[in-house]
Amino acid sequence: MQQPASAGVTNHAIPSYLQADHLGPWGNYLQQVDRVTPYLGHLARWVETLKRPKRILIVDVPIELDNGTIAHYEGYRVQHNLSRGPGKGGVRFHQDVTLSEVMALSAWMSVKNAAVNVPYGGAKGGIRVDPKTLSRGELERLTRRYTSEIGLLIGPSKDIPAPDVNTNGQIMAWMMDTYSMNTGATATGVVTGKPVDLGGSLGRVEATGRGVFTVGVEAAKLTGLSVQGARIAVQGFGNVGGTAGKLFADVGAKVVAVQDHTGTIHNANGLDVPALLAHVAAKGGVGGFDGAEAMDAADFWSVDCDILIPAALEGQITKENAGKIKAKMVIEGANGPTTTEADDILTEKGVLVLPDVLANAGGVTVSYFEWVQDFSSFFWSEDEINARLVRIMQDAFAAIWQVAQQHGVTLRTATFIVACQRILHAREMRGLYP
Ligand SMILES: NC(=O)c1ccc[n+]([C@@H]2O[C@H](COP(=O)([O-])OP(=O)(O)OC[C@H]3O[C@@H](n4cnc5c(N)ncnc54)[C@H](O)[C@@H]3O)[C@@H](O)[C@H]2O)c1
Repeated sequence: MQQPASAGVTNHAIPSYLQADHLGPWGNYLQQVDRVTPYLGHLARWVETLKRPKRILIVDVPIELDNGTIAHYEGYRVQHNLSRGPGKGGVRFHQDVTLSEVMALSAWMSVKNAAVNVPYGGAKGGIRVDPKTLSRGELERLTRRYTSEIGLLIGPSKDIPAPDVNTNGQIMAWMMDTYSMNTGATATGVVTGKPVDLGGSLGRVEATGRGVFTVGVEAAKLTGLSVQGARIAVQGFGNVGGTAGKLFADVGAKVVAVQDHTGTIHNANGLDVPALLAHVAAKGGVGGFDGAEAMDAADFWSVDCDILIPAALEGQITKENAGKIKAKMVIEGANGPTTTEADDILTEKGVLVLPDVLANAGGVTVSYFEWVQDFSSFFWSEDEINARLVRIMQDAFAAIWQVAQQHGVTLRTATFIVACQRILHAREMRGLYP
């Protein structure tokens, strides 16, 4: 809440460590919070707490490269809000990682965890590095040093990292081992997304894509869109996009276009998804896949399709390309793929957007199951995990759909209403310390 000047306190929604004229993804998040504020009732008094991360750690990550030189990388861990529980959020290894990006991703984790009602706050981490330039040994040293540096903040009951772009089960295993060596006891619950043999959960790898698919099917039912025969375009064919594409194809949808960092491919009759997944596993991307035509990257956005799934990076759907989108529904597998201006263009066009903070919450939901299983050292069957995941995603979708109808707002604003009320209610109940 803005303080009167006479109180001698100045509240800046934009902290001095960011450039006010170049806010990046954090600016996108702030606009989303502004939109939800009128719906927060008496809790709006606490809204400023959502506009400031609780804690930011910036670390230097030095490693010795295989050629004997010393390289330094920037690493981050941001805990946005811990009112509802320990921090939870992935770790991204990417050459374009910035503080603004990690801040926004941590905030979206707070919102997401509250939206599906798992007992976590929001956090996120990252290293500004292109891991494809590193050998396996260099990657391991980088991961271990980063884990040691952020060891101040993480822990099974403090902040629990997970995989994100360019990080995977092997990296989680190194993180778990490093934390365990530093603390002197095996702590499986310090990270999720671990290999199943190390306390990982069945179903975790596919969980985000399964969640994307589940909310897509629910929304299709309510809007009269037949999933069978629906034409799907997917940007990013990694963990999230690949799984979502496969699940849609399994029920008779046609994946007609896919774009990733290696190329853009198209087949109006539907791509052979299992063959494409095998190609990606062997070659590292969709480029050069036999059963499709290559197309210009910019043309991807105007492809004839019913459902568009951005599942790569943020800021992909912009005011420049949103007008060209022909899909009836956009399911955000990626975090923050749509800018606020683009969001408005899609809404005006009547495109239904299933927002990231709801649509890709399947990953953190099964991460929650993994963490619970690690604490109890009792592991569930894959069927049980998938059934519980689907139920949570369906219930969250139904509740948020109802709020959207009630207030006449987009599903994004409705998700923020539900989530921000939960976060700020927790904040209010706990009170300020001291
Ligand atoms: N993995 C999870 O459980 C999870 C959970 C929630 C959200 N997400 C989000 O989903 C998105 C994808 O994550 P992932 O785990 O599938 O990562 P991934 O590394 O498995 O796949 C990323 C995909 O994006 C593609 N890509 C990268 N740069 C691109 C570019 N410039 N243009 C087009 N495509 C590009 C890559 O080629 C790859 O196909 C991210 O935004 C991530 O934050 C992931």
